[in-house]
Amino acid sequence: MYYNKIWRRVSLVMMSKCMVAVLSIVLFVGVVSLTAAENVNKLIVNTDQGKETINRHIYGHFSEHLGHCIYGGYWVGEDSDIPNTRGIRNDVVEALRKINIPNLRWPGGCFADEYHWMDGIGPRNKRPKMINTHWGGVTEDNSFGTHEFLDLCEQLGTEPYICGNVGSGTVEEMSKWVEYLNSDGISPMSDERRKNGRDKAWGVKYWGVGNENWGCGGNMTPEFYADQYKRFATYCRNYGDNRLLKIAGGANTDDYNWTEVLMKKITPRGMWGLSLHYYTTNWWNKGSATEYDKKGYFEVMDRCLNISKVIDRHMTIMDKYDPEKRVALVVDEWGTWFDVEPGTNPGFLFQQNTIRDAIVAGIHLNEFNKRCDRIKMANIAQTINVLQALIFTKDEKMLLTPTYHVFEMYKVHQDATLLPTELQCTDYKFGDEKLPALNASASRDKSGKIHISICNLDPNKSAKLDCELRGIKAKKVSGRVLTTAAINSHNTFDNPDVVHPTIFKDVKLKRGKLTATLPAKSVVVFEIE
Ligand code: AHR
Repeated sequence: MYYNKIWRRVSLVMMSKCMVAVLSIVLFVGVVSLTAAENVNKLIVNTDQGKETINRHIYGHFSEHLGHCIYGGYWVGEDSDIPNTRGIRNDVVEALRKINIPNLRWPGGCFADEYHWMDGIGPRNKRPKMINTHWGGVTEDNSFGTHEFLDLCEQLGTEPYICGNVGSGTVEEMSKWVEYLNSDGISPMSDERRKNGRDKAWGVKYWGVGNENWGCGGNMTPEFYADQYKRFATYCRNYGDNRLLKIAGGANTDDYNWTEVLMKKITPRGMWGLSLHYYTTNWWNKGSATEYDKKGYFEVMDRCLNISKVIDRHMTIMDKYDPEKRVALVVDEWGTWFDVEPGTNPGFLFQQNTIRDAIVAGIHLNEFNKRCDRIKMANIAQTINVLQALIFTKDEKMLLTPTYHVFEMYKVHQDATLLPTELQCTDYKFGDEKLPALNASASRDKSGKIHISICNLDPNKSAKLDCELRGIKAKKVSGRVLTTAAINSHNTFDNPDVVHPTIFKDVKLKRGKLTATLPAKSVVVFEIE
């Protein structure tokens, strides 16, 4: 009896201990798998479901008469020792041809609404000079004008996108410019063009009717601008088979009322596109392009991601007036805007470019790709030596920035079919704040290859990625990566290759599933066959 009692007690104690042990194991396994699940980033790419084409014009550029973008950037003049073709730098043309630059917006920006195109035609030594009041008060000698710009576009194999002057120009002036460019008939303007050495009309398609008309383009209200747009646009005629694609000067960042009024008053029939300008900047304290800490890095990522919300709200308004999506959203100025480099002219907007800029570029292009049903064109500000530049020049030297490398890596998306993606990712935390650590888009090109571009914003942690490729039996994967040791790594004329793309090896395909570990602060592009 007594032994039985003791035995029962011993077994009860043992059983409860066992249960505790089992429970702890279950709990442990649960916690471990929960943590593991939390750390896994999942991307689903629906490779057989794409409908929309990523318009190559999303990869467009903007170049203004500002600082050393045009002069010294593209244009050195025929007598320069720097190798050139009719005054245009050969090294720059070669570099830009490599990234398939699809269009180039010119002559501004704010400069456009002070530019009188007739000053930039005819013999160069007879062209009048003007003061570039917006950008440094320097003398503009008009040596780079209409013919030089269109020669540049032909050398680049790119579509011109010209922005006409609404702010200080006249309807007649704009109308004559279009005639000069596009008329092949007998007319005063086409005769003038022939006299200046160009027989055939250029057939310019993309036409901006003013720039930032809420600000430097005339400080107008949206109602007043909408009326002006209609007046100017009426006299921008089509010549021959060429159809002018007119773009109305759109909103600044989150000025949703501007979009609302223009959509309502101009109506979808009255314009091909409506523009939007979004700069990744803190206007009150821009900060240095290179001297920043992790806080400065986080803040830029935060502002950059905000573009998705801003675009979506503009698109919602556009959908209300134009559910068929006839009007393109044209983000014709975007990019980072920091303090100018110490010792440089404040009016020249020259800033360095780091891995942080590269990630900003990667995110913007992903976000544009994903909205390619409405966004048909975008233009980075600006191609050379200004703001988020792709190229720096210094006399005869030329340098490619981290942003250039992103455009080169992402060119595979141009005119490809957007593939729907679903991304589940961990957070990139800074103090009490957090952002999604990853940002991605995917497409299928004409030969059937799939490309996934993905940014890991987190400067501290690499990210394990599981990617399910639905709809294909993937056989082969390769990748390229842009990443660096420091958060502010950048290229200089002395060290031009600090940031450049390399082959990405940390990727595997197993039973059709892609797994990879994306390095901290990186931009990666996968190619899948
Ligand atoms: O890109 C520099 C300037 O930024 C442009 O001239 C203007 O349109 C914008 O405010």
